[in-house]
Amino acid sequence: MSEKIYDVSADWAKRAYVDDAKYREMYARSVSDPNGFWGEQARRIDWIKPFHKVENVSFAPGNISIKWFEDGVLNAAWNCIDRHLDKRGNQTAIIWEGDDPSQSRHITYRQLHDEVCKMANILRTRNVKKGDRVTIYLPMIPEAAYAMLACARIGAIHSVVFAGFSPDSLAQRITDCQSKVIITADEGLRGGKKVPLKANVDAAIEKAGGVDWVVVVKRTGAAVDMNPTRDFWYHEVAKLVTTECPVEHMHAEDPLFILYTSGSTGQPKGVLHTTGGYLVYAAMTHQYVFDYHDGDVYWCTADVGWVTGHSYILYGPLANGATTLMFEGVPNYPDNSRFWNVIDKHNVNIFYTAPTAIRALMQAGDEPVKKTSRKSLKLLGTVGEPINPEAWEWYYRVVGEERCPIVDTWWQTETGGILITPLPGATKLKPGSATRPFFGVVPEIVDADGKALEGEATGNLCLVRSWPGMMRTVYGDHARFEQTYFSTYKGKYFTGDGCRRDADGYYWITGRVDDVINVSGHRMGTAEVESSLVAHAKVSEAAVVGYPHDIKGQGIYAYVTLMAGTEPTEELRKELVAWVRKDIGPIASPDQIQFAPGLPKTRSGKIMRRILRKIAEDEPSSLGDTSTLADPAVVDDLVKNRQNKK
Ligand code: WT7
Repeated sequence: MSEKIYDVSADWAKRAYVDDAKYREMYARSVSDPNGFWGEQARRIDWIKPFHKVENVSFAPGNISIKWFEDGVLNAAWNCIDRHLDKRGNQTAIIWEGDDPSQSRHITYRQLHDEVCKMANILRTRNVKKGDRVTIYLPMIPEAAYAMLACARIGAIHSVVFAGFSPDSLAQRITDCQSKVIITADEGLRGGKKVPLKANVDAAIEKAGGVDWVVVVKRTGAAVDMNPTRDFWYHEVAKLVTTECPVEHMHAEDPLFILYTSGSTGQPKGVLHTTGGYLVYAAMTHQYVFDYHDGDVYWCTADVGWVTGHSYILYGPLANGATTLMFEGVPNYPDNSRFWNVIDKHNVNIFYTAPTAIRALMQAGDEPVKKTSRKSLKLLGTVGEPINPEAWEWYYRVVGEERCPIVDTWWQTETGGILITPLPGATKLKPGSATRPFFGVVPEIVDADGKALEGEATGNLCLVRSWPGMMRTVYGDHARFEQTYFSTYKGKYFTGDGCRRDADGYYWITGRVDDVINVSGHRMGTAEVESSLVAHAKVSEAAVVGYPHDIKGQGIYAYVTLMAGTEPTEELRKELVAWVRKDIGPIASPDQIQFAPGLPKTRSGKIMRRILRKIAEDEPSSLGDTSTLADPAVVDDLVKNRQNKK
């Protein structure tokens, strides 16, 4: 842990919305008078019918119910587009930067309005109605934004599936929410490589069934199969519709979107976010955490397939009338200066990325950074996983030239928006710490028995109060919602993260304490990778754990027991990696596979993951007590044959 402290510069304290005194005052009010505080904050968005009730929440066992602004009526797309038209019709809403550096476009709020209305009319023509689910499987092109906002406009619930997921993963997500309409592209383009999106959709529909319509955006112009009764080209049908589309009136608690995320067991969960609270929270955090002012150019490098893309490329920035940059490519294409060149090209002021990208670029050395100007930069941010102090310092010193504060923002798909974070004009920074809670957020560190720990403490991180942006349920499975988040510690939302609070009240997230691993800022359930491996004919058993990885943060380490008589060859190892990659998607590819004649199990047959983790981490001396194992000898074999030895 780093003990360095960076003070807020005099400049920042002066120009930011919030200085330290104001933070303390606003925070105190947000917890002593949440109804007053959030009632005021919610006026930042336009309501068709005002709300009279603010918070109506129960975390009580058997009755988990979360409602904010419930009698208010609004439309998220109206808030992100229409209400800005008078003042900002000609202002750029979205700067699109293509994978190929010669391609970029500026889309004004007026153009955004017209494109979103066209997409919305296309959906309405296909009979998509309020509450229907629409699956979006698109690369990072403007049409992804149009599609999401078009759904919001007509009250359809979007489910964006990251375009790196396999046909099977896509099928699973289509089936779970029974979506009848899919919006996709012929192909995606990332780092010069093509991704066969339409072909993946065809394969997914074959498996999932139940899909009536597929809208296909032309991205690369590749030849794709078109089913004449089901598929149609976006550019063709867009000619047949108008650029006017009245907005659907939505109640604050009507669903806005579903986003699937991995948990510690079984299938991905459909995290459900609703309209009013989510939008208020996304907009407010975007304004304060990034200290967004009119005219700033803001860039979040996430993909719209993840929650960061939802809240901080689209909904938060657009609700605030911001100029938001959407990037199709990757950090190292065509070379390692790409991020910094894009910053110079578009005069980006606020830049928000993931520690894994920072670590990868740090390894490429300072030169690709230093040959660019970056003089437009004012503020840097990170999200997705803990940032190690070395990467933090490099980001601060080399990228930001010691002039840009770094906001290390901790949150989750479930939380809808940022919960623990510095505010750039208020918070002294400690490299590696997400620092202090945002307004209205009350973290608690609990021990294994659920006892709240005071002062300096290490334990599991819970949240004891609701905030408007939190998820409302697991789509179609409210019991699973309660089971997953509210049953470990009754009456509290359990995050799944470990955490330390230091003497200054700063929070240091130490990583997941459940069977979820964080690979390059992406969440992966070990159970998902295990079930993929055991589906292979030659695999009898598998156990998957995370281990420290220089760039990815955590890597995927799989222990595999083969069927009797199967040779553990190098070829089979490659085959299994390719198998998981094809089954789930490239982000789930195991980094290490160790063939294990046996797995450490208790006498009742439970796999002892603690031991497997220690071996994968190359800490064989701290295996702890192995005497309760059914066969302690398997451990020696595992230690001896560990992959990737230090
Ligand atoms: C998990 C949530 C929130 C959008 C991206 C990831 C980890 C996230 C931080 C951070 C340390 C972090 C946590 C969390 N995480 N941000 N700043 N410092 N850890 O969303 O896929 O839902 O993953 O990411 O472990 O629980 P997600």
